[in-house]
Amino acid sequence: MCGIVGYTGLNEAAPILLEGLSKLEYRGYDSAGLAVRDADKETVIIKAKGKLKELYEKTDGGSTIKGSCGIGHTRWATHGEPSEKNAHPHCSDDGNVVGVHNGIIENYQELKEKLIKKGYTFYSSTDTEVAIKLIDYYYKKYNKTPIDALNRALVRMRGSYALLVMFKDFPGEIYASRKDSPMILGVNNNDCFIASDVPAILKHTRNVYYIDNLESARLADGKITFYNLDGEEIQKEITEIKWSAQAAEKDGFEHFMIKEIYEQPAVIEKVLSSLIKNGEIDLSETKLTKEQINEFSQVLIVACGSAYHVGVVAQYVMEDMAKIPVRIEYASEFRYRKSPFDKNTLVVIISQSGETADSLAALREAKARGLKTLGIVNVVGSSIAREADSVIYTHAGPEISVATTKAYSAQLVAVYALSVKFAYIRGSISEGAYRKYIKELNSLSSLTKKIFEDKERIQWFASKFSNAKDIFFIGRGIDYAISLEGSLKLKEISYIHSEAYAAGELKHGTISLVEKGTLVIGVLTQNELYEKTLSNIIECKSRGAYIMALTCYGNYDIEDTADFTFYIPRTDSHFMTSCAIITLQLLAYYVSVSRGLDVDKPRNLAKSVTVE
Ligand code: AGP
Repeated sequence: MCGIVGYTGLNEAAPILLEGLSKLEYRGYDSAGLAVRDADKETVIIKAKGKLKELYEKTDGGSTIKGSCGIGHTRWATHGEPSEKNAHPHCSDDGNVVGVHNGIIENYQELKEKLIKKGYTFYSSTDTEVAIKLIDYYYKKYNKTPIDALNRALVRMRGSYALLVMFKDFPGEIYASRKDSPMILGVNNNDCFIASDVPAILKHTRNVYYIDNLESARLADGKITFYNLDGEEIQKEITEIKWSAQAAEKDGFEHFMIKEIYEQPAVIEKVLSSLIKNGEIDLSETKLTKEQINEFSQVLIVACGSAYHVGVVAQYVMEDMAKIPVRIEYASEFRYRKSPFDKNTLVVIISQSGETADSLAALREAKARGLKTLGIVNVVGSSIAREADSVIYTHAGPEISVATTKAYSAQLVAVYALSVKFAYIRGSISEGAYRKYIKELNSLSSLTKKIFEDKERIQWFASKFSNAKDIFFIGRGIDYAISLEGSLKLKEISYIHSEAYAAGELKHGTISLVEKGTLVIGVLTQNELYEKTLSNIIECKSRGAYIMALTCYGNYDIEDTADFTFYIPRTDSHFMTSCAIITLQLLAYYVSVSRGLDVDKPRNLAKSVTVE
């Protein structure tokens, strides 16, 4: 997704903007640019296709453009191919208005036609240029304030945006407007900062503001003023960011991904400590009453990607423990389905970023239907977190690598705790079982730590298969859910084709793809399904497959069949995903590294998909 940064204060803006953009590279981009203004001079705009280093070189690290007010952008193309012409910032032809944008203006064609009739011409094929010229049009037509021009434009634009705009008549000032796309604002003495995400400003300030949809802001003279759509000033509280600067850095690891994989035992402990207090699972932050929990007729989990895979685990766990029907839906599908839902449905939206467009739209659809909504979110103050009826924060800290690991594991713990508590409140598990599950949950952090003791075996195995063409993951029940996430991790960072299959489904088609040397990874952590999955593995082996087995210590008979086995510590079968997934994350990581790929920023992918 695109990244935006802005700075106005007493220092040179360009170096601050470039450094901020470098902290947003993980969001995925294909061009970049910045606009800097010296008080009484013209605004200078510099853009470059490709990586940020092109922009660094063009501006000699920002030293060649002077000015203490500026905006910057990394572009992930949505309208118009990646090019310097389409890169942001965009400006009105007379330079009166200059701006950058993250999001999509859905009705930009209609607005473009309107502006052409008013005499505007266009040099790019972007929706952003239309937005900037629309603001310019209203500013000149009504000749009022920048906030007035912005508000008139916001009323006309449909879609999503995090907009930063500078006006020729207002040197030293930055104006911002937001709808759906992420935006964080910060102040520090005489300086104002604004960006798509916290890491871009964390070096300069921890004092931040969150801005809501259809709100605007003026950044100038070390002060940020907020306005609503009517142009009235609104008050906002400052929030202090608790993250350490290091938390957003690599801590000596080669990649953010391996750092975040290693953080998982600590993250599991942290999210458990936020949910288990004095030996009890405490769901008070969900604001769900016992009566509501008993009244729910079903739970609908809606998410995308890895968050969806957490939902697949949750379905098995919650249905088995709480005896409540659980349905899972891809957010991109849910928002367009016409499924009837019982009014006593709890809709759970799982999202690391809290900004995924499909998940946010699904949340709004659920609310429009009058359903109770609960977010399980990592980024504090994100859209989903603020718009859901209530939220469980996963406290995984900033997750920089595009491939999610620690946030996925934190989400797992959240759905485990929700399942156990629901089961206890609904009377489907005894007091003894409730205590036993809590004890098992509290052991997860130390159990997962043990897995790293064997990481060299995974690293060795990964190097053997780094040139594989097809890799299949198979499992039953929760092992199928584990296979889904293991397969996604592998393909998204190694670019090797991989599929996850319910093991019993193989013989209905896919086994035709298995040939001599095909790697089949069998996941066998569920005791009652072990023999069934073993027979599926044997079917694959008899067709020449190379078998890797992922199972618990003690299942040593597997070595009569598997060519390579990785053992993990055993815990309650409901929670085995937390152990198994670390092995598969390490496998994916080492395969990607052995292929010399950009592990943290895989091609075509973005950390948060804030467009449809
Ligand atoms: C997972 O590694 C991917 N980066 C992707 O599938 C991700 O899980 C998905 O886009 C959902 O993102 P969210 O959790 O921020 O909503």
